[in-house]
Amino acid sequence: MRIDSTMSRKTRRPLFVAAALALLALTRPAAAAEFDDVSAKTFFNLHGCNSCHAPVEFRIGPPYQAIGTRWSNDPEGRVQILAAKIRYGGVGAWGMVPMVSNPNITADEAEAISRWILAQRPAPAEQGAADARK
Ligand code: HEC
Repeated sequence: MRIDSTMSRKTRRPLFVAAALALLALTRPAAAAEFDDVSAKTFFNLHGCNSCHAPVEFRIGPPYQAIGTRWSNDPEGRVQILAAKIRYGGVGAWGMVPMVSNPNITADEAEAISRWILAQRPAPAEQGAADARK
């Protein structure tokens, strides 16, 4: 079927919608990876993150919950910063111990796992206990 001026508006509209959707599919080939609690745990094990990070307690690096809480005023604004730190390493946000680089982690993976980390918060009971210690 050819798209030309002899076609009515009604016939053409669905074609344009289809073309727009196809273009969208082309420019964004794979839906960005998303992590849930289980796949995040697998990811951390696979890449050795767990040797320095735990959900709640400090190890060599900050716990995921502390990272999520710290940047909770602007998690979306932090995604790229954390993703860069995961891929290239970095130091200075939590102390003088550096975070190692992970060149084998893709930009998409780093962004997705950053989103998961930034969504972490202490459970209400832990939060209450933390407030009680203040
Ligand atoms: C050798 C120990 C070590 C390993 C392995 C490690 N990290 Fe880190 N990570 C750290 C340290 C230490 C920091 C704090 C750096 C700083 O003060 O800026 C950190 C910081 C971070 C931050 C940024 C926190 C912030 O607020 O800026 C994220 C996110 C993070 N790590 C995720 C990961 C992930 C994901 C992995 C696995 C791919 C990983 N880390 C592996 C030690 C480690």
